Amino acid sequence: MKILILNGSPKREKSDTLRITRAFVDGMNAAAENEVKTVHVIDRDIRYCIGCFACKKNGGRCVIEDDMQEILADILNSDVVIYSFPLYSYAMPAQLKALVDRTMPLSSWRMVRNEEGKYGHRYQYDAAGIRYVMICGCGYPNSRHNFEGVVRQFELKYPENRTIVTVPESPMFNIPQAAQFVAPRLEQLRAAGAEYASAGTLSEEMLKTICSPMIPEEIYAQFANGERR
Ligand SMILES: Cc1cc2nc3c(=O)[nH]c(=O)nc-3n(C[C@H](O)[C@H](O)[C@H](O)COP(=O)(O)O)c2cc1C
Repeated sequence: MKILILNGSPKREKSDTLRITRAFVDGMNAAAENEVKTVHVIDRDIRYCIGCFACKKNGGRCVIEDDMQEILADILNSDVVIYSFPLYSYAMPAQLKALVDRTMPLSSWRMVRNEEGKYGHRYQYDAAGIRYVMICGCGYPNSRHNFEGVVRQFELKYPENRTIVTVPESPMFNIPQAAQFVAPRLEQLRAAGAEYASAGTLSEEMLKTICSPMIPEEIYAQFANGERR
C-alpha cells in the first residue's frame, strides 16, 4: 500500500502527534511493508486558495503554481492519506487548512445530494478509493469540549472511508520522564495500525483505548501546571 502522511505540525519530526502517527504506521507495516511518504506541510510552498473555482470548470487544474500540484498527485497516488496534526484553537493548524482548501481541484463543479440531504461535489479524478485517517493530538488532559469542531469538519469533508483518532495529553509523547506511560500507549497504537491495515477500520474498543488519557487528567494538569514533579 502507498501511505501519505501529511504532517501539519510545524515541529516537523519533533511533533508529538507524529510520534503517535509513526507508531500507528509501524503497526500497519508489521503486516506488510508499505511505501510511506511524509510531507512536512510547514516546509512546502502552499498558497491560499483564491476562490476562483477555475479548477472546478477546467477539469481540475489549479491556476496557482506551487507545491500543491505535487501534493495533489501524491494524494491521488495513495491508498491511505493520514492527516497528522496537533489541535490548534480547537481546529487544524492554518498551514494544513490551506492545504485542505487547495484539494478543491479533486472535485468538479457538479454537486449532488445524498440520502441525508447533504450536498457535496463529485470527484473529477479517480479518488473514490482513497482512505483517509485523521490523527490529532492535543495539549489538554481530556477530549471533552476540545476535538468536536475538528472531528466534525473531517467527518463532513470525508463522509466515507475515513477513520478518526484523537489523542489527549500528547506532549507526554516527547517527555522522557513519561516513558513508562507512553511505551504501552505506543504499543497499543502499533496494534491499532495492524488492525487498520487488515480491517480497513478501527473497532470502537480500539478507538476507546487509543483515544483515552494515559494518566488521570488531574495528575496531568498538576504536572502541566508545575504543581507536581
Ligand atoms: C497555537 C496553539 C493552539 C493550541 N490549541 C489547543 C487547543 O485548542 N486544545 C488543546 O488541547 N491543545 C492546544 N494546543 C496544544 C497542542 O495541541 C499540543 O501542544 C500538541 O501536543 C502539539 O502537538 P505537536 O507536537 O504534534 O505539534 C495548542 C498549541 C498551540 C501552539
